Amino acid sequence: DLSPIDRAKYIAARRSCDYVQSGMRVGLGTGSTAAWMVRCLGEMVREEGLDIVGVPTSTRTADLARQVGVPVVSLDEAKWLDVTIDGADEFDENLNLIKGGGGALLQEKIVATASDRMVVIADAAKEVRALGAFPLPVETVPFGWQTTKALVEETLVNMDVLGRESTLRMNDDVPFVTDEGNYIIDLHLHRIGNPRQLALVLNQIPGVVENGLFIDICDAVVIGHSDGRVEVRD
Ligand code: A5P
Repeated sequence: DLSPIDRAKYIAARRSCDYVQSGMRVGLGTGSTAAWMVRCLGEMVREEGLDIVGVPTSTRTADLARQVGVPVVSLDEAKWLDVTIDGADEFDENLNLIKGGGGALLQEKIVATASDRMVVIADAAKEVRALGAFPLPVETVPFGWQTTKALVEETLVNMDVLGRESTLRMNDDVPFVTDEGNYIIDLHLHRIGNPRQLALVLNQIPGVVENGLFIDICDAVVIGHSDGRVEVRD
């Protein structure tokens, strides 16, 4: 009784658990697809004796992991991870990603980068020819955020993108606040011509903490289709 999209997410999440074996330190992503993966791992821990530790990428994921029985440690305790499994908002043919629709991009990028392998799980609708239809999240410190936002928009003038509007992410009528206490500015770029360059340039702007472009971080994408088929790109 899952919707077609949830079935696709679930099937990708379930398949991605094949990457996990006893003894591993596993980065646990954030979002609805990653939540299915955490539940599957919990089932494997409880019913098959899978012996792993998980490093969550958000308080949400940490809560879920504990609830389903996946032992949780901090990244500093784990130090280095065997694999991170996470969702994405978009992926392209080079396995570059936009992430951060759920606002957890900073911890997600730190954890994925600290892993031997990053496996992305996604429904087929997230595959794009060019990144950017999904608004690109940019995490900024709250201090002077309007100045930072203006500077980001100014910087976009010289970038290969189609749109330049940006909006502060809201939670009802107050700014959305990340786990790290920061704000998110969503960039409505429509098409990103050079994601690698944009990712570097954005992170040079004072006040910007991180952006949602994941370049050369993802090693494989497990794509779920609503009819039950699974494809792996690597
Ligand atoms: C969380 O910050 C994001 O990076 C998620 O991984 C991304 O938004 C995918 O979420 P869904 O699996 O819910 O689509």
